[in-house]
Amino acid sequence: MITIISGTNRLNSKSIELSKYYQNQLKKEGLEARILDLSLLPADFAFSALYANGGKNDEFNLFRNIIEDSQKFIFVVPEYNGSFPGVLKAFIDGLKYPDSFTDKKALLVGISSGIQGSALALSHLNDILNYLNMHVYGTRLKIPLIEKNFINGEIVDPKINALSLDQLKGFIKF
Ligand SMILES: Cc1cc2nc3c(=O)[nH]c(=O)nc-3n(C[C@H](O)[C@H](O)[C@H](O)COP(=O)(O)O)c2cc1C
Repeated sequence: MITIISGTNRLNSKSIELSKYYQNQLKKEGLEARILDLSLLPADFAFSALYANGGKNDEFNLFRNIIEDSQKFIFVVPEYNGSFPGVLKAFIDGLKYPDSFTDKKALLVGISSGIQGSALALSHLNDILNYLNMHVYGTRLKIPLIEKNFINGEIVDPKINALSLDQLKGFIKF
């Protein structure tokens, strides 16, 4: 079972749409995947589930348990202010430290309205995941101009679409 983390809590996000796209692609490959949607986190989790409250918020613990039970992850990461969304870092800070991601595997996919495709954001996240001893698949997909390149649940640019399928097939074997 692969867990797809939709990396924002913004409602009706492109990230959740793209997460569903990846879930469908994995289904076509005969693999099951679940989506962890950060928009479903308890609204006050940054105050009720972190630090001294770690492990004490039952609703947040459902998310922690999903992470602990999963071995392989796809992170769908929108570019916010030149990095990845703060809610994703707060979520990671609420997980059991230090071994929630140890020796597990990750695939990174970045999206942005602008032309960077979240490249810097993926680097920032990669540093953190490496620090946590995660194995991150080398090829990172960057989808720039997301509103133009991803429409009605499909990656419409043929080149980006081909890159995305290659990346996913590589990750399945990783
Ligand atoms: C708070 C915020 C900051 C953003 N900063 C950037 C940015 O620095 N560069 C960029 O190209 N797009 C930026 N965007 C646009 C997002 O990258 C674009 O909406 C996105 O990739 C899709 O994200 P979504 O999953 O929230 O829909 C920003 C959007 C928000 C909400």
